[in-house]
Amino acid sequence: MKKLVVIALAAICALSLFGCDNSSKEEKTEGDTLVMATNAEFPPYEYYEGSDIIGIDADIMTEVANELGMTLKIEDMAFDSIIAAVKSGKADVGVAGMTITEDRQASVDFSDPYTTARQVVILKDGSEIKTVDDLEGKTIGVQLGTTGDIYAGDVEGATIERYNKGYEAVQALLQGKVDCVIIDNEPAKVFVSQNEGIYILDEDFALEEYAIAVDKGNTELLTKINDALAKLKDSGKLQEIIDKYISAE
Ligand code: ARG
Repeated sequence: MKKLVVIALAAICALSLFGCDNSSKEEKTEGDTLVMATNAEFPPYEYYEGSDIIGIDADIMTEVANELGMTLKIEDMAFDSIIAAVKSGKADVGVAGMTITEDRQASVDFSDPYTTARQVVILKDGSEIKTVDDLEGKTIGVQLGTTGDIYAGDVEGATIERYNKGYEAVQALLQGKVDCVIIDNEPAKVFVSQNEGIYILDEDFALEEYAIAVDKGNTELLTKINDALAKLKDSGKLQEIIDKYISAE
C-alpha cells in the first residue's frame, strides 16, 4: 500500500514538473510563428543539411522573423504548391528563390526584391548547343512550375520534360534523356560542381529578381517584411548571408 502511494506521488510530481517545464517554454516563445512555404531542393537558397533546411532564404527569413518578433517555421513542399499554400493561409510567406512574374502577381504580392538571378542553360560535354538560339527543337528539362518551365515554353519546337525537382532534370541530362536544362544560375553552379561531364552555357537565358510572396492584399505583413528587408540591406546583413553561401567568382 505504502509503495503504491509513493509511486503515485512520484507520478504526480513528474507530471507537474513536466507541466511546469512546458509552460515556461511557452512563455519564452516570443510572439507568433511565421510560416514559410518553400521547396528545399534548391541549393544554395534552400536545401537539407541532415534534417534541417538551411540556405540563403532560410537565413534571410530567420532574420526577418526576428525583426518581426516572430519565430520562423519552414514548411517544405512542391514548388508549384507554394503559391496555393500562401493563398490558403497554410503559410504566411512563400520564399523559394521565387522570381517576380506578372502571372504570379495576379495571385500574390511580392516584397521588394532581395537578390537578382539568371536563368541559365546546363549542357552535357560535347553538346552541339552553342547559343540560346540553338535550343530550338531540342528537348529541355525543367523543374515543374518554375520560370525555367515558362521560358522553355517560348522556345520554338522544343519538347519540355518537367521534373518535380531541379536535380531530377539534371540527372535526366546526365542520362541523355534531355538535351539541356534551364534553371537558375546558383543551383546550376551547385549541380554542375557535384557532377562530372556537364557545364553551364556562357550565354544567359534571362534575368530575374527573387522576392518574398505574401497573400494578395496582405499589406500589413508586406510592409513589415519590406521594412525588415531594408534594415538587413542597410546593415550589410543581407550581403553577409549571401556571401556565406555563395563564394565570389
Ligand atoms: N526562380 C525560379 C522561379 O521562381 C525557380 C525557383 C525554384 N525554387 C525552388 N525552391 N525550387 O520559378
